[in-house]
Amino acid sequence: MNNDPALQQDDTKKTWSGRFNEPVSALVERYTASVSFDQRLTEYDIQGSLAHAQMLAEQGIISAADLTAIQQGMQQIRDEIRNHQFVWLQELEDVHLNIEKRLTALVGDAGKRLHTGRSRNDQVATDIRLFLRTAIDEIISLIKAMQHALLSLAEQHIHTIMPGFTHLQVAQPVSFGHHLMAYFEMLKRDVERLTDCRKRVNQLPLGAAALAGTSYPINRERVAQLLDFEAVCQNSLDAVSDRDFAIEFSACAALIMTHLSRMSEEFILWMNPAFGFIQLADRFCTGSSIMPQKKNPDVPELVRGKTGRVNGHLVALLTLMKAQPLAYNKDNQEDKEPLFDTVDTLTDTLRIYADMLGGVRVNQETMRASALRGYATATDLADYLVKKGIPFRDAHEIVAKAVQFAEQKGCDLSKLELNELQQFSIQIESDIFAVLTLEGSMNSRNHTGGTAPEQVQAAIQKAKAWLPWKM
Ligand code: ARG
Repeated sequence: MNNDPALQQDDTKKTWSGRFNEPVSALVERYTASVSFDQRLTEYDIQGSLAHAQMLAEQGIISAADLTAIQQGMQQIRDEIRNHQFVWLQELEDVHLNIEKRLTALVGDAGKRLHTGRSRNDQVATDIRLFLRTAIDEIISLIKAMQHALLSLAEQHIHTIMPGFTHLQVAQPVSFGHHLMAYFEMLKRDVERLTDCRKRVNQLPLGAAALAGTSYPINRERVAQLLDFEAVCQNSLDAVSDRDFAIEFSACAALIMTHLSRMSEEFILWMNPAFGFIQLADRFCTGSSIMPQKKNPDVPELVRGKTGRVNGHLVALLTLMKAQPLAYNKDNQEDKEPLFDTVDTLTDTLRIYADMLGGVRVNQETMRASALRGYATATDLADYLVKKGIPFRDAHEIVAKAVQFAEQKGCDLSKLELNELQQFSIQIESDIFAVLTLEGSMNSRNHTGGTAPEQVQAAIQKAKAWLPWKM
């Protein structure tokens, strides 16, 4: 221990309080502290410190004995935290100072040397990046688990016909498998976006120190290697100040939630008896305390609702960053809660969703009946006439009249007599009835991306090739 009386630390004093004449008020202490939420970064903070200390020792900036002491102290701190023995103190502000103070209590001067060539500014930026990198990896594997669930449902329903909608009005018949695979595509892009975002997250800020770098002969590339970062941040001011990587992640998260929210909205509609397309397993629904008949789709409703908070966090982070002068500002302390909540909300949602998809029961007859009710094959009749040489706009007009007639008669186009159809165009012949069936319509859209079962099957095969089958 250093015995210089001028340097004897009063334990109740702030680490940085040397130049201050009065303590902060209790309110200011509570207002400025982040330890209540940033203690979640503990493991990353320790990893970062160990890598930094190892580099300092390798560079001869601290001794090998100091490094050993730091390593042993950190191990004990990890144990204390795991066993819930660690005492977190608000007066020590944040996770960084709490750990450093405890380390110093445990190993003395070696603990005080750990912060050589480092600042909390590059330290916290490193911690968040390590946290987010881990979160991204977990989220990607959860998305893939959900995609597995989607694929197996889609595979069972390649030939199941549902009405495809535009404006939520019956448009054209589609394969239910095709409909589900639309979400597979969205989630695939979500995985790609996260994978790309991860590259920009995975850059090392340490070495930037407070803002300008440090005068010690550090080796940033070595720290990057120890922490498995792809590269070091190339500008010290940028390294400590920007949170664009977190904003980018939040944007990815908001899009994922938006996709899940759309699916949720469909599940909610489809569970309504007016649609009656699907049932969700009871474990994802709740009843009403007053209306005994109710089975409410709470889980998809909450997914839709929680999308609001994830979108809100994105806006919070953008607003937090906007207009901050270079370099670090305390504003950035506010990045953590939105980020943590985004990660938690998203991981819970994805987990629930994969499970929920496994319990979807599909009412094929109702879907089919619904497709038959909305003149879903009217476009097919128009296309039939076009193939006979009638210009599309005229064909459109002819079919509109036919639909009006069928509507008055109260039946589907396919249920009209041939002579009734021929009132609208003499080009219509008896081969029209194959065209007007739901299967005829669906099977005819037989090109990449179309709803013909052959194409849906091909899309599923492609999806399987993209998604590792075993995880
Ligand atoms: N708790 C702070 C944060 O989350 C750590 C960095 C504080 N740096 C400083 N110079 N006060 O951003």
